Amino acid sequence: MRLKAQIFKYIVAFTILIQPAIFAYIKFINLKCVTYDKPFADFRQCNLKALSRNAVALSLHVRLFQVPVNNVSVNLDVYKKANGYRPFMFNITADFCQFLKNKKRIPFGKLLMDTVEAYSNINHTCPFDNDIIVRDMVLKPEQMQLLPVPMGEYMLRISVAAYNDYKATIKAYIQVMED
Ligand SMILES: *[C@@H]1O[C@H](CO)[C@@H](O)[C@H](O)[C@H]1NC(C)=O
Ligand SMILES: *[C@@H]1O[C@H](CO)[C@@H](O)[C@H](O)[C@H]1NC(C)=O
Ligand SMILES: *[C@@H]1O[C@H](CO)[C@@H](O)[C@H](O)[C@H]1NC(C)=O
Repeated sequence: MRLKAQIFKYIVAFTILIQPAIFAYIKFINLKCVTYDKPFADFRQCNLKALSRNAVALSLHVRLFQVPVNNVSVNLDVYKKANGYRPFMFNITADFCQFLKNKKRIPFGKLLMDTVEAYSNINHTCPFDNDIIVRDMVLKPEQMQLLPVPMGEYMLRISVAAYNDYKATIKAYIQVMED
């Protein structure tokens, strides 16, 4: 785990070296939600709303029909657009309930959760026994200082499984651009 944190630091340092993204804006440009097991979970809401040119709010409402859920794993991978979407830097699979007990073990996961928590009702450990709601989540330019990446379009794909069975996928398309 220590080693992972080290590697993460080197990747970030390396990224800063190859292309500094200093005055960058970051915003959602598209969002897709798919469920594979409707009796288990379904999306009541999955949409973006433009607040201004550089601020787009993401809202999600996931209805859970078989609560409590106390066995969740997540695969998170990132793609960058370049003649189609190509794998980019991160591909993490984790026991989400373990992660929630100690987020520092996965630095990139913690970075994301720090943002999501502020706009959602998921800042707690397992089990999940209510709907999952994210309301008007906006990406902020400050986040680019924590994880400077080259300008471009990215897709963050989050696949969620419960009891080792994939239940849903969320694809968030994000643009990083110069002002
Ligand atoms: C990440 O890993 C998963 C599971 O091993 C795999 O299905 C997926 O294609 C990988 N994603 C990328 C971007 O390589
Ligand atoms: C989430 O919970 C932790 C631990 O209770 C707390 O320190 C943190 O401030 C919370 N985050 C938000 C955004 O409320
Ligand atoms: C989660 O559920 C799967 C399938 O039932 C099981 O194999 C796995 O051990 C469980 N994980 C935990 C952490 O309990």
